[in-house]
Order: sequence, then C-alpha cells, then structure tokens
Amino acid sequence: MSVEIVTTKSENSRPVWFIAKNKLAEADLPSSISAWAKAHDFNGQEGRVLVVPTADGSIGGALLGIGSEDKSGQGRLLAGYLGRQLPAGDWHFASTLDDAGLAILAALMGGYSFDKYRENADGAVRRFALPEGINADEIIQINEAVTLVRDLINTPTSDMGPENLEQAVRDLGAKHNASVSAIIGEELLEQNFPMIHAVGRAGSQAPRLIDLQWGDPSAPKVTLVGKGVCFDTGGLDIKPASGMLLMKKDMGGAANVIGLASMIMDANLPVCLRVLIPAVENSIAGNAFRPGDVLTSRKGLTVEIGNTDAEGRLVLADALTLADEDEPEILVDMATLTGAARVALGPELPPYFTHGDDFAVEIAEAADKVADPLWRMPLWQPYEKRLSSRVADLNNVTTDGFAGAVTAALFLNRFVTKAKNWSHFDIYGWVPVERAASPVGGEAQAIRALYYVLKARFAKS
Ligand code: BES
Ligand code: MN
Ligand code: ZN
Repeated sequence: MSVEIVTTKSENSRPVWFIAKNKLAEADLPSSISAWAKAHDFNGQEGRVLVVPTADGSIGGALLGIGSEDKSGQGRLLAGYLGRQLPAGDWHFASTLDDAGLAILAALMGGYSFDKYRENADGAVRRFALPEGINADEIIQINEAVTLVRDLINTPTSDMGPENLEQAVRDLGAKHNASVSAIIGEELLEQNFPMIHAVGRAGSQAPRLIDLQWGDPSAPKVTLVGKGVCFDTGGLDIKPASGMLLMKKDMGGAANVIGLASMIMDANLPVCLRVLIPAVENSIAGNAFRPGDVLTSRKGLTVEIGNTDAEGRLVLADALTLADEDEPEILVDMATLTGAARVALGPELPPYFTHGDDFAVEIAEAADKVADPLWRMPLWQPYEKRLSSRVADLNNVTTDGFAGAVTAALFLNRFVTKAKNWSHFDIYGWVPVERAASPVGGEAQAIRALYYVLKARFAKS
C-alpha cells in the first residue's frame, strides 16, 4: 500500500484525531467514538492507532495516541504510524497540530516500504488531505528525497556498486540539468586522487570520484561530500561476520548528500551546488592496500595505514581536498564513518563537528525545528597528536580506542583549510528498530535539518 497527499479533502474523507495521554475526555469527540476508545483502553498512549467505526460498521475515523503533550524531538513525527497502520482510503487531520506540515510529512515517511525485490503492489492507497496553509510541493519533494536516500541504502551492493551509485547521480543530475562527471580507475592516479584509488582498487567495480555541479556559478558555493563505500569488508583488516552484515549501508553518506542535493535543486535554492562522492568498495584481493602501507594524499600529506577498516576517512580526505580548493561558503560531509559515534550517541542521534559556533547553533536549531535530531561533538585538538605516525605525516587510526568519532573528525579536519563553514556528520544511515516515521532499514539523517539551514541562509524570501 502506498501513501499520497491530496490538496482537497474528499467527501468521504475520514478524520484522524490526535489524542494526548489521558486527554480523551478533553478531546471533542462524538460520544460513540469516546465510548469505543474507552472500550479499547485507548487513552492516548504514544504511537497507538485505533480505528473507529460508524454506526453501520464501516470505518468512521481513527485516533492516534501522541503520549505526553510536550512534543519535542521525534514526538512530532508520530503521525508516521498513520502512514503504515491506517486502512486504505481518504483521511484528514481533525485536530489542529503545532506543526501540521511536519505531521503530514511524517505520515508520508512512515508509509515507506522497500519493495524492489518482491511483489507488493496491491494498488491500495492511503490518501491524506493537506492541512490548510501547508505547501504540498515542498513536502512531497522532501519525502521524495528521503525515499531516494532509503532506496539507495536498502539496495544491496550487488545492485549498488560504484557504477550504480554513479548512475544514480547521473539520473538525478539529468532531472535538474546538472552536469555530472566521474574520474574512474587509473585516471584517479593521473588526476591525483591516490587514496580513493588505493582504497577502491581491489573492488569488483572500479573506484571513482563522482562530481555533480548545478546552479549559478556566481552564487554562494555549497559543496556536499558523501562517503560512498558501497561495501565495507574492512579490507585486509577484515570485519567479523556480525560487523560486515550491514555494510551495504556504508554508502549512506553518499545517499544522504544525494537526497540533500535533490531537495536543494527541487527548491531551486540560489546556490552554486557541488556534490562529490568518492565511490569505492573496500574489498579484499591481491592488489588491496595493506596495513603498514604509506599513501600520499591529494593534499600531499602522507598517511600510514594503521587499519584498512578506517577507509572512509581516506577516500573522504581526497574528496574534501578537492572540495576545499574551491573555498566554498558551506562545506558539508556526511559519512557512516565510525562505530564509535554509535557508542557515544546511538543510532538515532548523529553527531556533527564544526569549528563554527554560529554554524553549530544554526544546525542545532534546524534539527530541533524539523525533528531531525543532531548533537554537536567537539573537534578536540589535544587528541590530534594521537593520529601521529612514526613514518608518515599521520596515521589513519589511533590505537587506544578512545574518542574514535572525534579522532576520525580530526583526521578529516587536516584536509579542510579554506572552506568558510565546514561541518562533518557521522551518521548511522540505518534504523535498527522501527520508529514512527522510520521503518527498519536505510535512513535519511541530518538532511532535512541541513535543507532548513540552507533555506534559511539562502532562499529568496
Ligand atoms: N563503516 C565503518 C564504520 C561503521 C561501522 C559505521 C558500523 C556504522 C556502523 C568504518 O569504515 C569503520 O570500519 N570504522 C572503524 C574504524 C576503526 C578501524 C578505527 C570502526 O569504527 O570500528
Ligand atoms: Mn571500515
Ligand atoms: Zn566504512
């Protein structure tokens, strides 16, 4: 079943009431519906959906429990459950909500399912009428971007290698008249991207740097860099089975910057957009890069390989170096970079790192505004010396296991010197346990917040 929004409410549209915990009595419900709710022990429990009948036994409406009335964070996405649980047909929101736009977006996002590999199209549709004063186009575009991110991540590596990722960028570029190019295989060496080549050369598809450019060249430069490790075996420092199981999602950073680019171009934001994706497989073969190898990066810094499983920062370093050469106004990189970020904050709350205190506040406020949670972590300079090497300018890992997300960010930091506002997002890119607007699987993280930041900065009012 799919979910749609419609701009006009149909005659047989059924109401959904949003009921806070223990506030059934205060809700202005027909008495038969209150009685039905009581008979089912419905008292506004968070996330509970109760379908209510008409007198003749057909579907008359539904109640959604929203729990506590204080809706900060993800609570404002609770309408996501409606996108999965309501019967097919026409629906509208009967209650007024603080942020009805976010609720309708949540219903769309919650209705996502990944059906590429099975027959699941029954043709049925849940249709939600747009609440008054809400811009449908933008909500539909944001949902399309989120869907694209999820589809890219959920697609297994057998159909989402570096070639396929390039094709996905080309498809998006074609839709918006962007120019897309790619530097592939040996050419990476000729054009001085040695670390992207080293990490990806053992892969079954050639490594590449994908480059999308769009917009007015004289507009403020916004550059997005996404980690596109299409599969991360760990390389010669191979991961155990449990650690490798989900590694098709190691291009989650790339998927997310593609989604953000889609939003930016759909909204026609007056920016000069560049998207750079180093797309590789971190594979095992005779020509794989090895522990102890010393790589010379695009920037000229030499990097000793302490662990081939810390590959993301290597490919990002060369891509960030190129990005930084343009001196962009905004430089954002997104990556499923460290397990340590998950140890620190769990899968729902990606950390971000930036030197700019004002930029950090802009991001935090946007994250809160659109319920796309993010948490700032520090670029704590004293830890940088732990990335030192006896033979090279730096090592790609530290050995003591402390503050792994911070030291990974500090590694990237060495390759960014000229961008005016740089922020690094260490995302998980995956939903391990379903939430209201997030079915289990690949996930868009941080891009709704970043879209809000960019709109606030650059959109013509
Ligand atoms: N892609 C992984 C990080 C990762 C693992 C993200 C699981 C999300 C879930 C990355 O390439 C990696 O393997 N990082 C290592 C770094 C270590 C060798 C310093 C890690 O986090 O263990
Ligand atoms: Mn790895
Ligand atoms: Zn990785």
